[in-house]
Amino acid sequence: MTGKTSNQMWGGRFASGPDAIMEEINASIDFDRKLYAQDIQGSLAHADMLADTGIISAEDRDKISAGLNTISSEIEAGTFVFSRQLEDIHMNIEARLAEIVGPAAGRLHTARSRNDQVALDFRLWVRSELEKTQHALTALMTVFLDRAEEHATTTMPGFTHLQTAQPVTFGHHCMAYVEMFARDRSRVRDALVRLDECPLGAAALAGTGFPIDRQQTATALGFSTPTRNSLDSVSDRDFALEFLGLASICGTHLSRLAEEIVIWSTPQFGFVRLSDSFSTGSSIMPQKKNPDAAELVRAKTGRLNGALIGLLTVMKGLPLSYSKDMQEDKEQVFDAAKSLELAIAAMTGMIGDMHILKDGMKAAAGSGYSTATDLADWLVREAGLPFRDAHHATGTAVALAEERQCELAELPLADLQKINPAITQDIYSVLTVEASVASRTSFGGTSPVRVREQIAWWRTRL
Ligand code: ARG
Repeated sequence: MTGKTSNQMWGGRFASGPDAIMEEINASIDFDRKLYAQDIQGSLAHADMLADTGIISAEDRDKISAGLNTISSEIEAGTFVFSRQLEDIHMNIEARLAEIVGPAAGRLHTARSRNDQVALDFRLWVRSELEKTQHALTALMTVFLDRAEEHATTTMPGFTHLQTAQPVTFGHHCMAYVEMFARDRSRVRDALVRLDECPLGAAALAGTGFPIDRQQTATALGFSTPTRNSLDSVSDRDFALEFLGLASICGTHLSRLAEEIVIWSTPQFGFVRLSDSFSTGSSIMPQKKNPDAAELVRAKTGRLNGALIGLLTVMKGLPLSYSKDMQEDKEQVFDAAKSLELAIAAMTGMIGDMHILKDGMKAAAGSGYSTATDLADWLVREAGLPFRDAHHATGTAVALAEERQCELAELPLADLQKINPAITQDIYSVLTVEASVASRTSFGGTSPVRVREQIAWWRTRL
């Protein structure tokens, strides 16, 4: 024991203060001070409601509100003294309020507990983070739409197993990411809908006997309704888990994109060149230009996943309702929010100003017998072969081209006719990369016509 005096907020039954280690493990002020604005916002709404319902006097409410506004200015000016002895942001603010306005401060905590207070503060914080994420994703999607429009006809190889499969357009590839980030954005919107209930007024866990008006505080704080069950209100952290879940999924998309940029920017691929603003040099190898931003985006995803698993693990064994374990919800969410915000912003910048090396993409698009499927399709369409037979004949043609070390389009007609006599000169018109992509006009296909339709569809939905 340190022999310190007991806590001024809850120390009535304690003869002495906490051990130094107890104080250290217990205090959250070093990180939850981030919630000061939400805490003050919640207290202002609570004080108004207490006065409107006659639970405290209007005079006390006015003192409390003025004091809270002073505290807000002090924190913003950097003059507020945070204390670890006061554990967390809630008690730091309340203690300072008592210094400023005297006994009226002691009435603010009527019909409230830190349990519903922290549930509210954290919800408000996550809500604003979700809103930021929604805007950031819209900006990223916009950049992709612009690049897709610019490159609706730029050809590149499409891959499966990272082996050249069929030619696609770079515009089509960009639009694949628009779809992914749009789903991420819709997950953000879903999460906002479920988060739209206010836990304030659940008090410690059982509600309160004071005649509070929960709808009033819910409305004042921008929520549609109060939460319906007080136990659930103080023990629920689903909103934080959902944020981490959607952040992890979005991170997975960002990381796959980052991986592609890393691959595409190698001299071996030569599909893109990163702008100077989003790459770095090597201190020893003067020729190098490294895709550090993409690599870091890829790595940030590890942090996002870690945060999700971390909080899931914190929550999984907790009986209802509040347990102090839940104080460990914040740092991971703060860290994840920062990582996600940075990763989306870095990607938006990188995609926006990366140079597309059209010639490199086009050359690669035609290599690796990427139009073999078009040859097979031609045999089905023009010569009436069953697809399996056409596939076999095309395989023979590919083997021949491989043996001669040439492209399919470089095989003489006579040789192709030995493989299948139905083949005519017309075959050469489907063996080009441009013809291949132009032919893929099925809904959702890579044909420039379809890609432009998709771009237009998304433009009206951003
Ligand atoms: N700092 C605490 C947290 O973040 C606030 C709630 C404390 N509640 C309690 N019953 N000790 O979870």
